[in-house]
Amino acid sequence: MERILGRVLVIVPTYNERENLPVIAARLRAAVPDAHLLVADDNSPDGTGDVADELAAADDHVHVLHRPGKQGLGAAYIAGFRWGLAEGFDVMVEMDADGSHQPEELSKLLEALADGADLVIGSRWVPGGETVNWPAGRELLSRGANTYARLMLGVPVRDTTAGFRAYRASALEKIGLDDVRSEGYCFQVDLTLRTVRNGLRVAEVPIRFVERTAGASKMSRAIVAEALWRVTVWGVSGLPRRVRRTR
Ligand code: GDD
Ligand code: MN
Repeated sequence: MERILGRVLVIVPTYNERENLPVIAARLRAAVPDAHLLVADDNSPDGTGDVADELAAADDHVHVLHRPGKQGLGAAYIAGFRWGLAEGFDVMVEMDADGSHQPEELSKLLEALADGADLVIGSRWVPGGETVNWPAGRELLSRGANTYARLMLGVPVRDTTAGFRAYRASALEKIGLDDVRSEGYCFQVDLTLRTVRNGLRVAEVPIRFVERTAGASKMSRAIVAEALWRVTVWGVSGLPRRVRRTR
């Protein structure tokens, strides 16, 4: 796999994930030993940054990006992508720290990338995908958000908000990161849309999303509100293009 895809960097954004980080790091290192791990920590008050430093000191495949404060998932990933591109990685993976995304399923995503996709999404909402222990309210929110995004944007993807994904570095370079404004979880929708609009290939593979058992979700009303207005703006501004396509 390494021979076909080149060097793989797994970026894990963290905010108060002290308990979860060592577990997910160990699972990743065992599941895909060649991959490097970059922890992008937003100066977590619980000291996750120190835990990350300890992991990095003990393992040359682990790196840490210390950021000054909580600036959102999107900003953390952009900083991580920039770091990875500068270091010459060929593949950039997004993965949560809390165990919802299982490192043991990463090779499945990488295989689909090697088969020719530019972006592979680990999807809850394709056949074979599932969620474990997710509250009904969260499932409804995710299904609703995905339905709204698919209708508004015309993107043929079942799980546009998914946070377990693998990009070819060449795809990130092509779509350009300089004008990405999304701060919260709509960052995922934003980059999916940019990937599709650039004519790149998106594949979805089913995953088992397991709700966290330690720490707390950072999902908030502000994150939902940002996603709702941004998707609406992208949808409306993309209408002329969709009308041209159907004529
Ligand atoms: N550095 C940084 N800064 N990390 C953050 C921030 C932030 O502002 N906000 C969240 N994170 C980290 C968390 O520490 C965790 O590792 C990961 O991002 C996901 O955050 P969660 O709070 O666990 O997200 P969730 O479980 O509610 O949401 C999941 O589903 C969403 C919707 O489907 C994630 O997979 C999201 O990426 C996804 O969009
Ligand atoms: Mn989570």
